[in-house]
Amino acid sequence: MNPLRRMSLKGRLLLILLSAMVALQVLSFGGAGLRHGFESRSLRNEVIARDIVYAHGQLRGLAPPERALRAAQMRRGGYWFQVVSIADTTPASDHADFRLILLDVRKWAATPPMASAIVKAGAADAIRLSLDAQQDVLVHFDQALASTRPPFVGIALYIAAVSALVLWIAWIAVRVATRPLDVFTHAANRLAHDVETAPLSTDGPMEVRDAARAFNAMHVAIRRQLLERSQILAAISHDLKTPLTRLTLRLATFESSDQRALMEADVDAMAGLVQEGLDFARSQQLRESKVPVDLNRLVQSIVDQATDLGQDCQIAGHCARPFPAAPRALERVLQNVVDNGLRYGTQVRITLQDHTDAVEIQVHDNGPGLPTELLEKVFEPYFRAESSRSRSTGGTGLGLSIARNLVQAHGGCIDLAPGNGGGLVVRIVLPLPGPAQGR
Ligand SMILES: Nc1ncnc2c1ncn2[C@@H]1O[C@H](COP(=O)(O)OP(=O)(O)O)[C@@H](O)[C@H]1O
Ligand SMILES: [Mg+2]
Repeated sequence: MNPLRRMSLKGRLLLILLSAMVALQVLSFGGAGLRHGFESRSLRNEVIARDIVYAHGQLRGLAPPERALRAAQMRRGGYWFQVVSIADTTPASDHADFRLILLDVRKWAATPPMASAIVKAGAADAIRLSLDAQQDVLVHFDQALASTRPPFVGIALYIAAVSALVLWIAWIAVRVATRPLDVFTHAANRLAHDVETAPLSTDGPMEVRDAARAFNAMHVAIRRQLLERSQILAAISHDLKTPLTRLTLRLATFESSDQRALMEADVDAMAGLVQEGLDFARSQQLRESKVPVDLNRLVQSIVDQATDLGQDCQIAGHCARPFPAAPRALERVLQNVVDNGLRYGTQVRITLQDHTDAVEIQVHDNGPGLPTELLEKVFEPYFRAESSRSRSTGGTGLGLSIARNLVQAHGGCIDLAPGNGGGLVVRIVLPLPGPAQGR
């Protein structure tokens, strides 16, 4: 897959901005540099040509023996003169700049030199002009002047510095531009955990406001649908209760028989289903207000009830701080989980543990456990693992769904894991409210 496609949005925007900026700079530098180089070169050539005309005139006016000294005195920054005998030959050469200078020299000299040429003097090119029948003058150029290449290193440094600046500004711009995305990600995550979460703020730039409004509208629609669903479930369950009660009463008037016992068992099972359905519908919203709950005592009371019935249930660990919770809801959660442990196993160990920002409750049983692929599936409403479909361990398959709803209503999470040494571990983590939101 193309790595650019997997790049973060921030990275992509940065790359686009930066490459646009660098391309722009290289182009504008190239253009300006070329034009500037061209103009300054022709200007420089002109000045040099005039100076050479002057120097040539000076040297020609002197007696041959005096010329060498005078030539040495006429050293310029960038080029210098050397008087040579015409016997000292130099091979012909060519140089674009020198050709232009030479043209100007010929044009401006009052009496142009008899002969003039571009020659190779040593390693570099030079201009050779004749002075008289015995002597010529060579105009040597320093390397810096002979070279007309623009200062690439300087330009590269400049572009790097500007690019760094642009990168910094672009980084800020990109952060500003992508911040709303982070806000939406957070909001969606919050919504996934708690449909009752507060709506998004509709401040900010127009597009963000529109998106936030759309998000809030979606949030309202989800909440309405959930509410409708649980209202229907609650209404059906509630309305079924009355005929079920009547059925129970009518059955009681029948003569007792095997048939009656079977029917009573069925009505009981139906009543159980109805009650669980009602509880599930209600578990989607907390109906009690939260109060500080002593988790140690809450768990202890559940353990006590189990041991009173002769079951093997023990508690370990301790929570130092009270936890703000809906006490009956939290009791329901723990009751469901402990009941499961004792129903599918014979022994339950509950551990309480404080963390810095949460409390954790683990319920470990010695039952058969669950295959990994079912660990999440069993939280679905009415789902029961195949092995537990027998009447003897009859449940409705709503216990864990109710527990998860209630835990999530406390901002917490509940999940299952295979126990160390067999059995199942139910892990409930309840986050303590931060200092800002002490509800
Ligand atoms: N402690 C446990 N050990 C093994 N399986 C369990 C345990 N707790 C729950 N399960 C499985 O998860 C399913 C769903 O549990 P639950 O929602 O409480 O429904 P119910 O107990 O009414 O069947 C159960 O049917 C059972 O198969
Ligand atoms: Mg159960």
